[in-house]
Amino acid sequence: MDDKLRIGVLGLGVVGGAVVKILKENESIITARAGKKIEVVKGVTREPEKAKHLGIELSTDVDFILDDPSIDVVVELMGGVDFPYVVVKKALQNGKSVVTANKAMLAYHRLELEELAKNLHFGYEASVAGGIPVIYALKDGLAANHILSIKGIVNGTCNYILTRMMKEGASFSEVLADAQKLGYAEADPTLDVGGGDAAHKLLILASIAYGIDAKPEDILTEGITDIAKEDIEFAKDFGYVIKLLAIAKKRGHKVELRVHPALISEEHILADVDGVMNAVAITGDKVGETMFYGAGAGGDATASAVIANLIEIARSESAAAMMGFNRPLETGLELAGKGDIEGKYYIRIEAKDELGVLGKIAAVLSENGISIENFKQKNLGESASLLFSTHEAKEGNIQSALDAVSKLPSVIKKPVMIRIEG
Ligand code: HSE
Repeated sequence: MDDKLRIGVLGLGVVGGAVVKILKENESIITARAGKKIEVVKGVTREPEKAKHLGIELSTDVDFILDDPSIDVVVELMGGVDFPYVVVKKALQNGKSVVTANKAMLAYHRLELEELAKNLHFGYEASVAGGIPVIYALKDGLAANHILSIKGIVNGTCNYILTRMMKEGASFSEVLADAQKLGYAEADPTLDVGGGDAAHKLLILASIAYGIDAKPEDILTEGITDIAKEDIEFAKDFGYVIKLLAIAKKRGHKVELRVHPALISEEHILADVDGVMNAVAITGDKVGETMFYGAGAGGDATASAVIANLIEIARSESAAAMMGFNRPLETGLELAGKGDIEGKYYIRIEAKDELGVLGKIAAVLSENGISIENFKQKNLGESASLLFSTHEAKEGNIQSALDAVSKLPSVIKKPVMIRIEG
């Protein structure tokens, strides 16, 4: 057996640089735990000049690593979907194990790549919630349980924006610019604020927990761009905070997968997760509720998770253990349709402040079987914001009611709806 695990890193940005640095800084403890030295010997980057200080061989060509028979493991940290997919496939076909943090690529191609990996290792702990070992928790620590639900704050950018909107009364656009400056956001920030990044992460968790093979387009995904100051105020008045949640919920033989902003009680365990921090609450049928909290992004935290996979490879555990599940998982579970989702809802309707408008809206809600829990009106001069929270209702009924409300002559704008969770 080789006395060293030789690594090639594709992408030497913040995370790639941190992987090289931490493997040096913590070399003795990592070697002790892994049973052999783990060394990055080659790196590929678009800007080799900027990576010279790392002291490894550099190139701009991925084949520099993929075609090198002495490389045992390829660490893919490039981002994107199509190009990394081709690169990872080639790495596996060339007999190299792969560790990746690329949630977008995994959301589309994880099952195919895992099958291709066969007896090679394919690790992706860093793809969800950065440094939090939530994938290890699901595949190992909670393996004895049926997973009843997963609720996560898994996008640091959205959580940072919503926290500042709640605490400072700031507007969405003001704080997005700050999140970009601080480097939390993806290269394309619409992936963050539109909920896509959280959906990628949810699909990875759900594939482990439920063996569900869904693609991002299959699941309900809404971002935070429509959240206005009055939504924040309503939430505060009724004891809620607003968070972007990634939710997997098992109901009978169906699994709801959804990403959307949600009102959650100020008392809820996730309500105090602020700023760029991430947290994932997982409920198992035997263990009950568990909660994993920590840094969801950032170089060192994400590199910590990448290196955990490298240590596992060095220990030569079996590929099946690395994957965490065998497909198809024999649960008989299917993805629930978007209209079947059930819950409580907050609705904001902007309407002309005129006689009978509230009655007409209340009638539409009632015709669709929707019962109102709380109501507040905010006058805006000629118009008014009508703010409702509902009792439990079916998503399909809420959508029909909102379509009908939009068509009322007094209603000025498309109504905004936010789901209430816990
Ligand atoms: N853009 C991501 C976030 C980075 O804000 O959480 C970590 O995946």
